[in-house]
Amino acid sequence: MSRRDMLAVIKLGGSAITIKDEIFTPNTRVIENIAEQLLETWRDGWTLILVHGGGSYGHPIAKKYRVMEGYKSPRSMLGYLETRMAMLKLNELLARTFVSKGLPVVPLHTACISVAESGLILNFYYTSIETALRNNFIPLLEGDVVLDAERGFSIVSGDQVVYWLARKFKPKKVIFGIDVKGIYNRDPKKHKDAVLLKRISIEELRRVSLGKAYGIDVTGGIQSKMEYIIKIVEGGIPVYVGSLLDPRVLVQMVRGEEGQYTIIWPAPRRE
Ligand code: IPE
Repeated sequence: MSRRDMLAVIKLGGSAITIKDEIFTPNTRVIENIAEQLLETWRDGWTLILVHGGGSYGHPIAKKYRVMEGYKSPRSMLGYLETRMAMLKLNELLARTFVSKGLPVVPLHTACISVAESGLILNFYYTSIETALRNNFIPLLEGDVVLDAERGFSIVSGDQVVYWLARKFKPKKVIFGIDVKGIYNRDPKKHKDAVLLKRISIEELRRVSLGKAYGIDVTGGIQSKMEYIIKIVEGGIPVYVGSLLDPRVLVQMVRGEEGQYTIIWPAPRRE
């Protein structure tokens, strides 16, 4: 298999890599464990593109300044900058941890390689990512504040970035690492008897629930995530959803090993 046949695009959800209720607090144990799991998959020969979320770095600052509404006043420009700085801080922390464990990541900030229009990506400069991949780097992008042709600036979620990457690079799989085990038949935070669905189709996905997102989320939470998952699967790419709080699930999802996570298969169902 060529390395491109073994390409995985992985979203590192903000609620797993940070402590969501404590501003600017990384979940260090989880981040280090993610690095170790990624290293195993890298050694297996997988090509990786990583995208991380905002968690308790991006979301509270964006909310404070209402950055998602775009340019309103000079103060809102300060909000743009503060949010970018918060994301840079988290990005640097991840990059340093990953490099220290032996993963050759290259931070390619979404804010610098894309432009949005009314919150949706309009242009994406893929050449940086392609060049990084050709040189055996692991591109590390993020959900970010992006210059916006309509609003001045807006927030682009990591999920939206993942969708654009999936569309362009047609990876073998897309993985959403979150803070719950996957997709359940009913809301697991409300129903004790909720069952984790291990393999489902898009039709089944439309009927079920990931559990309501909690905490501050300025990018549309679970609803928006579901929409991007559906679009990716409709493009023929299987999507894996699993917990980054579990020490082995990320490796299992990349390798396709048995584990406690959800796979959403494109129709017709294929391995
Ligand atoms: C949010 O990205 C980025 C900013 C708030 C600037 P995401 O929406 O992908 O973040 P998480 O994964 O939900 O925290």
